[in-house]
Amino acid sequence: MERGALSKIKSATKQLNIGIIGCGYWGPNLIRNFFSVQNCRVKRVSDLKSGRLDYIKKEFPSVETTKDYRELLKDKSLHAVVVATPVTTHREIAEEAMFLGKHVFVEKPLAFSSEEAEALVDTAKRLDKKLAVGHVFQFAPAVRKIKELLKKKVIGKVLHITSTRVNLGPPESEVDVIWDLGPHDFSIILHLLNETPWKVQATRNEYPFGPFNILKGRSKKKLTNDAHIDLSFKSGITAHIHLSWLSSNKMRLIQIFGTEGTLVYDEMLALDGKLKLYGAGVDSRIKSKDSDSGALGYHSGDIIIIPLEQHEPLRLECQEFVNAVLNDKPLINNGQIGLDVVKLLETSSESFNKNI
Ligand SMILES: NC(=O)c1ccc[n+]([C@@H]2O[C@H](COP(=O)([O-])OP(=O)(O)OC[C@H]3O[C@@H](n4cnc5c(N)ncnc54)[C@H](O)[C@@H]3O)[C@@H](O)[C@H]2O)c1
Repeated sequence: MERGALSKIKSATKQLNIGIIGCGYWGPNLIRNFFSVQNCRVKRVSDLKSGRLDYIKKEFPSVETTKDYRELLKDKSLHAVVVATPVTTHREIAEEAMFLGKHVFVEKPLAFSSEEAEALVDTAKRLDKKLAVGHVFQFAPAVRKIKELLKKKVIGKVLHITSTRVNLGPPESEVDVIWDLGPHDFSIILHLLNETPWKVQATRNEYPFGPFNILKGRSKKKLTNDAHIDLSFKSGITAHIHLSWLSSNKMRLIQIFGTEGTLVYDEMLALDGKLKLYGAGVDSRIKSKDSDSGALGYHSGDIIIIPLEQHEPLRLECQEFVNAVLNDKPLINNGQIGLDVVKLLETSSESFNKNI
C-alpha cells in the first residue's frame, strides 16, 4: 500500500471513503452493505443510466451521482472504488482506479481473460494497492465453517467434492453459464482446498431451448447454458461441478466426501439446516460381509446438523475489505484467487465435447 495514503487515512478519522461504479442488479446490494459497515462512507456512485442513478439518489440521498465514472475517479477524497459493471469493463475501470491511487474491490469474475486478470494483479502489486474480488461465498457462514471442519479433519481425508448450481438462466446475458455461476464454485473449492487443480475437463452444451426459447431468435450469440466440469488436484482430490441455466428446480448443493464422513451444504435451506455432517464412512479396517470380494466395509455414524453463525456474507465481505485497507491486512478474496478463478473459467470454456 502507498504508505503516505495509508497514514493519511489512519491519522484522519480512520474512515474509508468509497465510490461505487455500476448500480444495475448487484451494485445496489453493495451500496446497501457498504453503507452498513463500520468506518466506511459511500460518497459517490456512477452508472451510465440516469434511471439507475435516480433510484440510488432516492434510496441514499447523501450519495453524489455521476454518469461518468472518470469524474468519480478524479475525486481525491476517495480512498477506494468498487467495480460492479459487466466483466468486459472490469480491467479498464479497475486499472484506471489503481493508477489514480485507489484501492479496488472488483465484482466477480475479476476479468474477462487470464491476461487481463494477471495485469490487474501485477498493477495492484506494483502500486501497492489492495485488490479484492467479489467472491461472496468465501464469506458465507457455511463455507467458513466447512473450512474450519476440514482443518480439524472432521471428515478425515477429503476425497471428492460435488457442487450443483442450477437454476433457470437469465433470458439475456453477456456471459455464459460458466462465467456467470462458475466463479462461485471455483472460489469456494480453491478457498477450501487451498490448492489449484492440475487438470480441468469440461463438457458443455448450448441447448437451443429452456429459458432461451423466449429470446425468439433475438440472441446475438449461442451461449453455453449447461456445463459439467471435472477438476483433479495434485493431492488426489477430485471435484465435479454442474452448472446449468436449464433447471426450474434451483439448487445450490455442495457435498464433500471424506474418509471419515461427508459434509453436505445446501444453501437453499434455512440457516439451522444448511450444513450437515454425515458420520458414516468407508473403513478399510472393516471387512465387508462378502470379504472375498475385497470390498471395503463401512462404519456407521450420526447425522449432525452443524450450527452456523448468523451474518450476511456480503456485509462481512464489505467489512473485511474496509478493514484490510484501513489496517493494511491481507484479504482472503485477493487478486491471486481472482486470477486463479479466471484461469479455471477460461480453461473450462476452452474444453470441448469430444465425441467418438
Ligand atoms: N457476487 C455475486 O453474487 C454477484 C451477483 C450478480 C452479479 N455479480 C457481478 O456484478 C457485476 C455486475 O453484474 P449485474 O448483474 O449487476 O449487471 P447489470 O448489467 O445489471 O449492471 C451493470 C451496471 O453497470 C453499468 N455500467 C456499465 N458500464 C459502465 C461504466 N463504464 N460506468 C458506469 N456504469 C457502467 C450499467 O449501466 C449497469 O447498470 C458483474 O461482474 C457480475 O458478475 C456478482
